[in-house]
Amino acid sequence: MINNLLQVNRPEPIKSGIEIGSFTRESNIPETIEALLAGEYILIEEFYSNGLYLLRELTTYLKNNLPNETFLEQRAFRAEFRKLSNLILIHVKGNKLIVRKAPVIGWLEKLYPELNDFFLPLPQIQGLNSAWQWYKNGINIPVLRNKIHPYYGVYFPTRFEHLILFDNWLKRYEGPKKTANDIGIGSGVLSLMLVQHGFQKSFGTDINPNAIIGLTASMEGTKLARKIEIDFGHLFGKWEKPTELIVFNPPWLPTTQEMNRLDEAIYYNEQLFPDFFEAAQKHLLPEGKIVILFSNLAQITHVTTEHPIEKELFSGGRFVLEKCLKKSVKEASEKTNRNQHWRGEEEVELWVLTLQPSNDVIS
Ligand SMILES: C[S@@+](CC[C@H](N)C(=O)[O-])C[C@H]1O[C@@H](n2cnc3c(N)ncnc32)[C@H](O)[C@@H]1O
Repeated sequence: MINNLLQVNRPEPIKSGIEIGSFTRESNIPETIEALLAGEYILIEEFYSNGLYLLRELTTYLKNNLPNETFLEQRAFRAEFRKLSNLILIHVKGNKLIVRKAPVIGWLEKLYPELNDFFLPLPQIQGLNSAWQWYKNGINIPVLRNKIHPYYGVYFPTRFEHLILFDNWLKRYEGPKKTANDIGIGSGVLSLMLVQHGFQKSFGTDINPNAIIGLTASMEGTKLARKIEIDFGHLFGKWEKPTELIVFNPPWLPTTQEMNRLDEAIYYNEQLFPDFFEAAQKHLLPEGKIVILFSNLAQITHVTTEHPIEKELFSGGRFVLEKCLKKSVKEASEKTNRNQHWRGEEEVELWVLTLQPSNDVIS
């Protein structure tokens, strides 16, 4: 089993034996915050809600003591909150949180099978708890027959306009449906759509081990395991055979040095698209198509003026544009945040590219 070799991404456990203060409802708040500011760990005791109470008090303290207006100030504020809140720990023993009225989080057993006694930062516990609810209850995706159950730390869609575009495109697609490549398969949504539309086989990859571990587990023993094959790897991974369709829902925003974000589901580095197009040329059958789901998000938020697909079409010499479908994205809420005024202009894009007809006959 490949998965035995894969190292799952999980919040880093803090082994017992560290020096640690304690917090209950009776504790002195200013003293506790002092201790956090001095870099000391604080253990939440008695009730889970004591931890939530301390987090609220920490937020209030930082709001009263740090500027939080400009973009840079907000970023510094968040960084400070992240640093201090991650010193607030909960004891985990026998896969359970050792405080009363705590949520039951199945990830503790799945992600830490070899550890019996350790600590985790409260914000990480909160992340694990939300992820467990999504995994356990599943998420409805409008274009899929069945719910998906996203594994911890794996991207899943929360808005669906781009998937509706792809679904409509698949309904009209009349080409062969033997094989496809799904680059960056995530929770498997695009491959599941391909199978639902009659594709016999999808070969997926991801550089996030959790995506591979999660999909392998969820497909085990089902018919899907024969239809969707996956590999832990960059771009096409171990898949070498050209296919008639390559689908890619890449990250939509470029990384910037300042952001220093490593989230590879959301931010792309400057090599991702050039490498993808170079590899895609070799992995596409002569009559095949590449479908890329993208968005104008980076342009309307002025992160960049460069559009990596337009750039490839303009100067790559490898592909031609068959079509580009666009769909505007509904505003998330009536009371759109002042800082998110661009939301109204947001559009998702579905790009269909084919190989540039060979021109070596010209000479
Ligand atoms: C925006 S998510 C899309 C996931 C899924 N295809 C979907 O549409 O819901 C992008 C995915 O690509 C993966 N990814 C990023 N860079 C990659 C690379 N170089 N090779 C393979 N996968 C990559 C990320 O880990 C993430 O799962």
